[in-house]
Amino acid sequence: MSADPTASVRYNSDLPRAAYTKTLQGQPALITGASSGIGKATALGLAQAGADIVVNYIGDPTPAEEVAHQIEKFGSKAIAIEADVSTEDQVQAMFAKAINHFGTLHVVVSNAGLQRDSPFEAMTLEQWNTVIGVNLTGQFLTAREAVREFKRRGVDTNISVAAGKIVCMSSVHQEIPWAGHVNYAASKGGIMMLMKSIAQEVAPQRIRVNAVAPGAIRTPINKAAWSTPEAYDALMALVPYKRIGEPDDIARAVCWLASDAADYVIGTTLFVDGGMSLYPGFATGG
Ligand code: BGC
Repeated sequence: MSADPTASVRYNSDLPRAAYTKTLQGQPALITGASSGIGKATALGLAQAGADIVVNYIGDPTPAEEVAHQIEKFGSKAIAIEADVSTEDQVQAMFAKAINHFGTLHVVVSNAGLQRDSPFEAMTLEQWNTVIGVNLTGQFLTAREAVREFKRRGVDTNISVAAGKIVCMSSVHQEIPWAGHVNYAASKGGIMMLMKSIAQEVAPQRIRVNAVAPGAIRTPINKAAWSTPEAYDALMALVPYKRIGEPDDIARAVCWLASDAADYVIGTTLFVDGGMSLYPGFATGG
């Protein structure tokens, strides 16, 4: 039997990548939940695309400051700002501080999110409220402040042909039901309609709102799903492309949506999931 011609890349996420192009120069970007995981990679990616960065975090400032240092090594400016995205006055204070620091914002990535998993009948109201508060209300509050700033400033074609860009971090679970995670799946389904409805409303002001829906990405949130060989194998049954996603896979999608290259892209969700949303069980069944 001949060797598998995909062997060198199968299960391998450590593959060479092209350098980022400087599509976001002069466009300060704020990323919520940027001290770890997808948020951190997105902050680093947007910085490599030339943006100065607001690194939002909650709790221990050390990881966020570390991200800020890495950003400075790419030649961009960075400031770490603490805010609980589920709290209105903290989000407003963060935007005021960010705009005061960088003059304005052109890109806002509402990324902060968490899971509080439980079998449905045992799920507490606190678990429900925590997830909806951060994942959904947090995106509402973040996007609202972004729209206010983008409308205030308007378009400066020397910088970008849009007045501003919002990228909402969704999930394949805006579409794929997820037993044991109903609070999380409900929050992501909500993000989809939040994103589309805002997009429809603010497009006439040349504000572009879109979402990225990651599949299984190698971050702390789902460590149990990839950190042992058995778990990784089980996960690959759900991923036609046969590798886990890396945070940088998501960062590159965000960079594109935020850039003028995507100027006619409005209210869309870009799935970055290795095919997870293609009902992989049907490849051999049905
Ligand atoms: C969740 C991860 C999960 C992935 C695929 C993400 O939105 O946060 O825990 O591995 O979806 O199921």
